[in-house]
Amino acid sequence: MYALIPAAGSGSRLGAGVPKQYLPVAGEPMLAHPLRALLGCEDLRRIVVVTQAGDESAREVLGSEARAVLAPCGGPSRAASVRAGLGWLLEHGASPGDWVLVHDAARCCITTQAVRRLIDACVHDEVGGLLALPLADTLKRQREGTGPARVQATVPRSGLWQAQTPQMFRIGMLAAALDASADREITDEASAIEGQGLRPLLVPGEASNFKVTLTGDLELADAVLRARRAACGGD
Ligand code: CTP
Ligand code: MG
Repeated sequence: MYALIPAAGSGSRLGAGVPKQYLPVAGEPMLAHPLRALLGCEDLRRIVVVTQAGDESAREVLGSEARAVLAPCGGPSRAASVRAGLGWLLEHGASPGDWVLVHDAARCCITTQAVRRLIDACVHDEVGGLLALPLADTLKRQREGTGPARVQATVPRSGLWQAQTPQMFRIGMLAAALDASADREITDEASAIEGQGLRPLLVPGEASNFKVTLTGDLELADAVLRARRAACGGD
């Protein structure tokens, strides 16, 4: 069983001038936190971090961890980076039937317990699955047109979940699904698998496993990780 961290993005929405995976969060580069959570899961024999070619910053974060390796084969989109990382895994000893957990570097508050919960729920499943959260808020659809945003309609939230990562699938099945969906925009692995007519498992995640996208998210992640460390007696 493997993990793959796509970390080849530029963080354009955050606009910090540095890819967000290297911004300091709770005193460490963001990438260090999800990497530690995945390393805490002994089932994962290798954690592959996909970066852009020539990006040397990740090497320092990985340090001397034998199970953490760099794959400098990132592509122009998240899906392209994931697909390239799967190819890298297959060229470096993994089999198409092995499981891979794909986890965003930007979901830096993931816990080892949540990763284990996903593995336990999916390991005997035919398809695999993802961490996700049932929606709690009332949903509004915006009216089309110019001027200030106004409500067009309230959308029933029953049965709706927010997808998170990790997402856990067989390497070969996921590679084929991504290849088959190369002509449309894919923002997570599960949607590529769904495109094959398969039905991934929805495994309850955690609210703290949000994706750092905008500046406010960075502050929240910092607070979550510092509070957790303090609760463990670290601060
Ligand atoms: N990612 C990647 N390769 C890309 C684009 C994104 O590996 N070409 C990774 C990011 O590094 C991140 C994850 O996919 O860990 C989720 O993507 P996102 O949150 O969109 O990060 P960025 O693409 O870096 O941010 P933005 O969209 O704001 O530019
Ligand atoms: Mg992006």
